[in-house]
Amino acid sequence: MKLVVVSNRVARANTNEPMTGGLAAALLPVVENSGAIWVGSSGRVRDGFQKEPFAEIEALGAGALATLDLPAAHYGGYYEGFANSALWPVLHSRSDLIRVAEGDYPSYREVNAFMARALLRFNKQDAAFWVQDYHFLALGAELRELGVTSPVGFFLHTPWPAHGVIEGVPQHRELVEAMLAYDLIGFQTEGDRDNFLGYVRANLELSVDDDVVVSQYGRTRARVFPIGIDAEKFAKAAAKAVTHPDVSRLRRSLNGERLAIGVDRLDYSKGLVNRIRAFDRMWSTNPHLARTVSLLQIATPSRGGIEAYGALQNEVARLVGDVNGRHGEADWTPIRYLNKGYGQAVLAGLYRTAQVGVVTPLHDGMNLVAKEYVAAQNPADPGVLVLSKFAGAAHELDAALIVNPHDIDGMARTVATALSMPLAERRMRYEAMMHRLRRHSIQRWFADFQEALGESQAEKVETSPLATEPPTLWPIRSVHAAARFH
Ligand code: F6P
Repeated sequence: MKLVVVSNRVARANTNEPMTGGLAAALLPVVENSGAIWVGSSGRVRDGFQKEPFAEIEALGAGALATLDLPAAHYGGYYEGFANSALWPVLHSRSDLIRVAEGDYPSYREVNAFMARALLRFNKQDAAFWVQDYHFLALGAELRELGVTSPVGFFLHTPWPAHGVIEGVPQHRELVEAMLAYDLIGFQTEGDRDNFLGYVRANLELSVDDDVVVSQYGRTRARVFPIGIDAEKFAKAAAKAVTHPDVSRLRRSLNGERLAIGVDRLDYSKGLVNRIRAFDRMWSTNPHLARTVSLLQIATPSRGGIEAYGALQNEVARLVGDVNGRHGEADWTPIRYLNKGYGQAVLAGLYRTAQVGVVTPLHDGMNLVAKEYVAAQNPADPGVLVLSKFAGAAHELDAALIVNPHDIDGMARTVATALSMPLAERRMRYEAMMHRLRRHSIQRWFADFQEALGESQAEKVETSPLATEPPTLWPIRSVHAAARFH
């Protein structure tokens, strides 16, 4: 099988560039070793595609990284519009933040169709496509329209919301119908898969038998593949990273003080406001913890053009200022707040420096920070993970201290408990979590999905209604005005 992996954002090898996306950082090492072709956005947009749109095809380990410029006229409606102002909020159960602008959905579909046309270049015999995430829900259907009969799988890195919530997106039915063009759909947790299948049963009135849906496209299997990390590799990187200048400077600056760490994209799903309120509460109710423990909160700016993200950035900055103003001293800053990204090598060292990792999203598909924090710990003296029950990772890392991110007092108490946990208990919890991380690695995730994709295709009784006419490829329809890019 010649695998073609497709995602909006890609990562480049041999850089220690900040990576805002868990997906891109997680996929890089496995794609590199697999010999797969990884196709994604170049980060640039342009007009007028007279020929195929690949900006660059470069070697990536045993395979290749192929990036393409996306159509300028549709990029805004696709990325900041439909993907991140309609799908992202609804998938994270924040229907109140859905913004649907006219033209966003057509642009989303145009970019999905555009990507499908670009992928034809790789549609060789023995090819299989593996599409990643909510940016490309309709890509499988577009590939089938173009006559592609190769296996096409999809993995959703975000949650799939509870019954009824997805209906907040006006085009919900069309989208889920399009998703059924995939042979295999992977979810992070059983809850996500069940929510999806619940929709298919209730809204599309299709029967689901043993996680298989039969639609106009034939069979689609829905299965759970919780994404993992390379825990051994991360642990080694963390041990090495403590000598990195950024990490050593942090260690020196602590002067015996203990550290809690949070690392997130600045996103409303991450629960930053509640987390800061919990630390505020902890310092108020445990005055002995003032000056002896601080929070390092890295909040990497993200999707800045979207109103909800700008508002969140202001709210968090105001709150941090307020807490630091009330609890701080001339020589002590309770919250060290940073609006920038760090490369994996430095992050590994920062995680290892912190006695507590706080990962408290309101809703999260998996959250790989939780897994990385655990893997980065010194086995002889590990820190404690405080983890939201609403992160996909909580289903696996049940030896963490599990919290409800809406319960500020509960979180404050739990962080205080983590800080006073005896070494024996910390080691026991760490060992249990590492055991799980080692067994369910990113390599296993990658291999399991590919194997299941091969099986799903073999099981397929019918394939797509193939395009009867040769598809028109380039130039693409309606590409005019310049647009923003991320
Ligand atoms: O599913 C979540 C995800 O794809 C993660 O990889 C990452 O957290 C985020 O979305 C990436 O977002 P963006 O590419 O918009 O920065």
